[in-house]
Amino acid sequence: MKAPRFLTVALLPIVGCNALVHPGLLHTNADFTRIRSYVKAKTDPWYTGWEKLAAHANADYTPGAAAVVCRGASWCNPENYPVLYRDIAAAYANAIYWQVTGDTAYGDAAAAILDAWSGTLTTVTGSSDKYLAAGLYGYQLANAGEVLRGYGGWSGLDSLIDMMQAVFLPMNSDFLVNHNGAVIDHYWANWDLCNIASLHAIGVLADNQTAINQAVNYFKSGVGMGALNNAIWTIHTEDTSGKHLGQVQEAGRDQGHSLLDIALLGVIGQQAYNQGEDLFALEDNQILAGAEYVFKYNTGHDVPFTTYSNSQGTATSISSSGRGGIRPIAELIYAHYNGVRGLNVSWTGEYRDVVVEDGNGAEGGGGDYGSTSGGYDQLGFGTLLFRLDD
Ligand SMILES: *[C@@H]1O[C@H](CO)[C@@H](O)[C@H](O)[C@H]1NC(C)=O
Ligand SMILES: *[C@@H]1O[C@H](CO)[C@@H](O)[C@H](O)[C@H]1NC(C)=O
Repeated sequence: MKAPRFLTVALLPIVGCNALVHPGLLHTNADFTRIRSYVKAKTDPWYTGWEKLAAHANADYTPGAAAVVCRGASWCNPENYPVLYRDIAAAYANAIYWQVTGDTAYGDAAAAILDAWSGTLTTVTGSSDKYLAAGLYGYQLANAGEVLRGYGGWSGLDSLIDMMQAVFLPMNSDFLVNHNGAVIDHYWANWDLCNIASLHAIGVLADNQTAINQAVNYFKSGVGMGALNNAIWTIHTEDTSGKHLGQVQEAGRDQGHSLLDIALLGVIGQQAYNQGEDLFALEDNQILAGAEYVFKYNTGHDVPFTTYSNSQGTATSISSSGRGGIRPIAELIYAHYNGVRGLNVSWTGEYRDVVVEDGNGAEGGGGDYGSTSGGYDQLGFGTLLFRLDD
């Protein structure tokens, strides 16, 4: 007798629902167990990565929380958003330091930073750049909170969730729906991508399944430039290897933004993967194809280019502006596609190694790549946090 299949089909969604993993954004408990053992044994390259992170952990850090954060407008008084990204980097470093060592002084310091912002911030404003601030700092703040959420000395999780759902999430959601009133291709991919990452991250932090679904569905089939098939819009095949190289939407614009696209695609992939949603695997590993394209070009190799036109103009060749820029973003992608999946990610590996060498043995994080916003677009420290083995 055949099993009544409808029973299985009907029960599966119930089992899969409302079972969010915590911590479950960029890092899980299994990750922290691995990291602690490498740090304890002082094994490189993880230990070098640990020393880089530890240099930014500071139990005496004083946050500079403000009620209004302003980015990009001449009327900002002042344009104070660097305070926010520096405080988030400090909260994240302190929260990880607490996770790895158990030292409560660092847990308390991370809590003090997050609580200061939860209790103070009411508005993110500025030019259209306010949506970049809402996306970039939204996903990072949620990640800092998610790393700290198991700390018994912290009672501020609910306040952080309330603030993030009041200030950041509505902006993230609104941007993905309305794109600040502009034509759909006015905003380049990174604008959507950071808002997808933030909406998803806040959804996990807050156990808000609606927000998670909105972010995942938009990434799969949204109309803006951050949806997967728009962010990586044409697939080339490498002659020698048959490997897919995915041309990113911003390739003809400049490489700083192309690298940022890959940074954010990695964040979205990792956050979702840790909740059991494998966006990395979509469309025959399309995120990897994009990464291999961008990293190949940014390590000095030629890549194919298809003419790209949007409402801002036409690019007939890849832009060499910013080529070879250093961002701590490849360890995450390498760890997933090679470490977990066993795929050939040689261009990602080449870029990873350039950045690791630049950092004298490991990726650094916020504060190690200059004081301007680009150095803080990604949380970094990927050698310590993502590398699986050598
Ligand atoms: C959960 O997320 C959705 C957006 O996807 C939002 O409409 C809703 O207000 C959020 N819930 C709370 C309590 O903020
Ligand atoms: C991995 O891909 C590169 C080209 O992208 C190729 O040169 C190399 O031989 C491949 N490695 C293996 C082990 O197949």
